[in-house]
Amino acid sequence: MRVLNLTVNGDATEVAAPAHWTLLEVLRYRMGLTGSKQGCDKGDCGACTVLIDGEPQLSCLTVAALAEGHEITTIEGLLPAHLRAGGEGPDPVQEAFDRCGALQCGFCQPGMILSARALLSENPAPTRDEIKAALSGNLCRCTGYTQIYQAVELALAEATGAEPASPSWAPGENPWAKTPEGNARPAVGAAGLTEGTGVAPSGGDSRTNGKAH
Ligand code: FES
Ligand code: FES
Repeated sequence: MRVLNLTVNGDATEVAAPAHWTLLEVLRYRMGLTGSKQGCDKGDCGACTVLIDGEPQLSCLTVAALAEGHEITTIEGLLPAHLRAGGEGPDPVQEAFDRCGALQCGFCQPGMILSARALLSENPAPTRDEIKAALSGNLCRCTGYTQIYQAVELALAEATGAEPASPSWAPGENPWAKTPEGNARPAVGAAGLTEGTGVAPSGGDSRTNGKAH
């Protein structure tokens, strides 16, 4: 057992865990941060992606002790970070994923959103190919990716004040076109923020006897 000093979502914390545990195990099974998903647990799927010093990293391949001294951001920390930065509501990437309906089961979304957030923080004007490349380590078994890419482009358009492109499923009309009132475009995604944005636990992360499953 080892006592780790980790900074997670802006909070410095001490947590005891076996010395060989990965960051993903510590986040999920010591800290209860189950937004980081345990998919393949061997570096293939990207579901466990967190930001370490702003860079997307696979927490299932990161020994927790090596994360000491670094800023770790999980999906649970994205909305509070946006509020601390003076924003309102969820991070624009989370909101865009919700409005685009860029999810089905939601399992991939925390990692996908964090990879997208890292991209937009680093590159203010990525092309579709650059978005694809940035998200290539995050696998989605459900959506076919198109609405995910469109969500990143919607977040980008919102950030720059540009007119969002019309989504492929609405040719001839653009539900995201700006209105005279400014920001009165309808939400087209799932109603309200969904579990994939980290606001609520996934069904597979329900707790029984204090354990996350
Ligand atoms: S759980 Fe880490 S890459 Fe799949
Ligand atoms: S894996 Fe189900 S929405 Fe991506």
